[in-house]
Amino acid sequence: MDSRPMSAAPRFPDLLIHRGYAAPARMEVDVYDLEVDGEIPRELAGCYYRASADPQYPPRLGTDIFLNGDGMIHSVRLENGHADLKTRYVRTEKFKLERAARRALFGAYRNPFTDDPAVAGRNRGTANTSVCWHAGRLLALKEDSQPIELDPRTLATRGTFDFAGALTSKTFTAHPKIDPVSGEMIAFAYNTEGHTSTGIEIHFISASGELTRTERFEAPYASMVHDFHVSQRSIAFTLYPMINDWERVRNGEPFFHWNSTLPTVVAVIPRAEGVRGIRWYRYPGIGMATHSFNSWDEGPVLHLEQFFTGSGWLSQFPDIRDPSARELPPFAKRWSFDLTSPSEEFAQAALFDQIGEMPVIDPRYLTQRARQYFFGTINTDLGPMLEWGPKGPPFTCIGHFDEARGATSFYYAGRNSAPEEPCFVPRSPAAPEGDGWLLTMVGRRAENRTDLVILDARAVGAGPVATIRMPCRLHEGFHGTWVPLEQLPG
Ligand SMILES: [Fe+2]
Repeated sequence: MDSRPMSAAPRFPDLLIHRGYAAPARMEVDVYDLEVDGEIPRELAGCYYRASADPQYPPRLGTDIFLNGDGMIHSVRLENGHADLKTRYVRTEKFKLERAARRALFGAYRNPFTDDPAVAGRNRGTANTSVCWHAGRLLALKEDSQPIELDPRTLATRGTFDFAGALTSKTFTAHPKIDPVSGEMIAFAYNTEGHTSTGIEIHFISASGELTRTERFEAPYASMVHDFHVSQRSIAFTLYPMINDWERVRNGEPFFHWNSTLPTVVAVIPRAEGVRGIRWYRYPGIGMATHSFNSWDEGPVLHLEQFFTGSGWLSQFPDIRDPSARELPPFAKRWSFDLTSPSEEFAQAALFDQIGEMPVIDPRYLTQRARQYFFGTINTDLGPMLEWGPKGPPFTCIGHFDEARGATSFYYAGRNSAPEEPCFVPRSPAAPEGDGWLLTMVGRRAENRTDLVILDARAVGAGPVATIRMPCRLHEGFHGTWVPLEQLPG
């Protein structure tokens, strides 16, 4: 007879992260031939993958932050005008242990001291942040752990991927950059030993998928390093004081705190020379770069383009000096560094004047001069703001800034509708920059349902070319990628 104690059936507590459109979806589904309004372009053949944080079980501690959900991958495969949906949880070690126990065993975000002793030392990674395709491999990524490889056809989990043992860090960014010129993937890791530390490692992965070189440098403080920049000549990090230290974690405090007494700094590293050539720059105020658009070289000048806010991510992680401080919205900035000057200062300019996040460019122009910028945004001229969710105010629009024409245009997703991160797909390999489509999941909040909307990237204001209708709600996601059909197996 089974002597294990019976556990109660799960019940998610009434938290903002579990409410309404943000409620756990927890469904692994296959839906063939989704309904479509309009017509999916025939040239659009491939698979859109994206990651979300969809908790399998109610939080062990009774409360949680949305970043701690289990990795759920959504894929929509497009071929001959048809669309097929597949959703699967990533079978992380955490997921499998909790599935077997029928309850949460792991506690607070990146805090092993809050875990059930039965899982001490086990892998806490959730693989919930992004999906990356490189050298024929589909990797689910979360910055606190190593990549997890997935089968691109079935989304079945193949297991932890450590580049044949060459990955020295226990962590790996969710925002690696693929150089479209060389095919190389450049990635990094922070908190590289798996706890709080100042070491940052840069990993160079060849076009054929071998990790061939690792460089390491020390940051001035241990902190969140969510994204970075790669141009043809340089690698750059904006380091902001979203600090972490192990004593606070041991005391059960949030994993990150905003320390507004510390400076925001930039490290610029020559790609060829590596960290021996590192240079440090100081931002004159305080603030946080959330996600990068792009980075490019113009003679001796390095340009970094990113969404930047003058506060920390205070809605998730408090300011240790001023807990009443409130988060500020991000704006797109271009920071320019004359690498021939000995100065620690750099030039700052607005890239365009519009709040936004989830920045995207045509991936064929990454590391080089680009002029077409796409992003999620809110434009109250087109429609009212939506009720705040766990991530703050939902987007109501997708924005397009065409620097060549100096024009900004918007796709407004409609009443009670929230678009998510756009994904750019070129019309053809030889198409001009920005000539292609944008894919975006759109939350139909009143219907508790999700659509995948396809926009012509040259005319986002014209509305959808096609709307792929899901019969269910897909949990809100973070980051995704497009893989052309000819690169997929089978
Ligand atoms: Fe991100």
